[in-house]
Amino acid sequence: MIDISTNDRVFVLTGAGVSAESGLPTFRGAGGLWRGYRVEDVASPVAWARDPLMVWQFYSMRRKAHSEKYPNPAHYALAKLQEALGDRFFMCTQNVDKLHEEAGSRGVVHMHGRLFQSRCDTCARPPFEDANTYEDNVPRCACGGQIRPHICWFGETPYEMDAIERELRRCSVFMAVGTSGVVYPAAAFAAQARRSGGARTYYVGPEEPANRALFDECYLGLAGELLPRLFHWSQLGAVAV
Ligand code: OAD
Repeated sequence: MIDISTNDRVFVLTGAGVSAESGLPTFRGAGGLWRGYRVEDVASPVAWARDPLMVWQFYSMRRKAHSEKYPNPAHYALAKLQEALGDRFFMCTQNVDKLHEEAGSRGVVHMHGRLFQSRCDTCARPPFEDANTYEDNVPRCACGGQIRPHICWFGETPYEMDAIERELRRCSVFMAVGTSGVVYPAAAFAAQARRSGGARTYYVGPEEPANRALFDECYLGLAGELLPRLFHWSQLGAVAV
């Protein structure tokens, strides 16, 4: 069990594993998303410059794969933890799906972007909601630029890093869920939380992550099974999930 006191501030980092039980494949597991696609062929500025239609076909496939996928008990447990802790809770996800929001989480920071948003690759027009699929043509902005997925590709800077770093400095509990710990900067967040605020660090997932050394404790198992019973809900003033 993870003890959370009334003084604690909790930072949660989620990865693809939190959505695995909802039927969305992880990146590096068996049946992972990149099989048949090399990552750099679809998720990099170089790929976009070389073959934007292929990039859109890939993200169109991912938009379609999201349909009829629903939050699982892990998403609901995290939404409930936020409800119990209020502004002492901060969640950052590497996932581009909407399942945290669909489970009721609010203010989730999507550091790698959002699958259902697009933006112009040329002008400063802000990202906009876009659930369309583009299989045959690359959409154009009124400015003449090309519309691209609002995703942080390899070699690009993740979004909202200022807010993330501020919260890493002030959290006292850091919990990572379902992330392999190989993609930076997220793989270094546990180290930052420990270093700056002396946070207690926990990992939840079926296997130890690559950055295991950064965690005080690992809870090995499926997030959807572990998270609902990892907290003393009654102490947090909440009813068990
Ligand atoms: P990975 O696919 O690298 O890792 C998924 C992790 O989830 C693994 O460690 C699994 O053990 C774990 N896992 C699988 N099933 C689980 C379950 N039911 N409950 C809990 N954990 C489970 O995915 P990420 O670490 O999220 O970036 O990958 C990080 C980034 O790499 C992604 O955001 C993406 C990718 O390239 C971009 O697209 C920019």
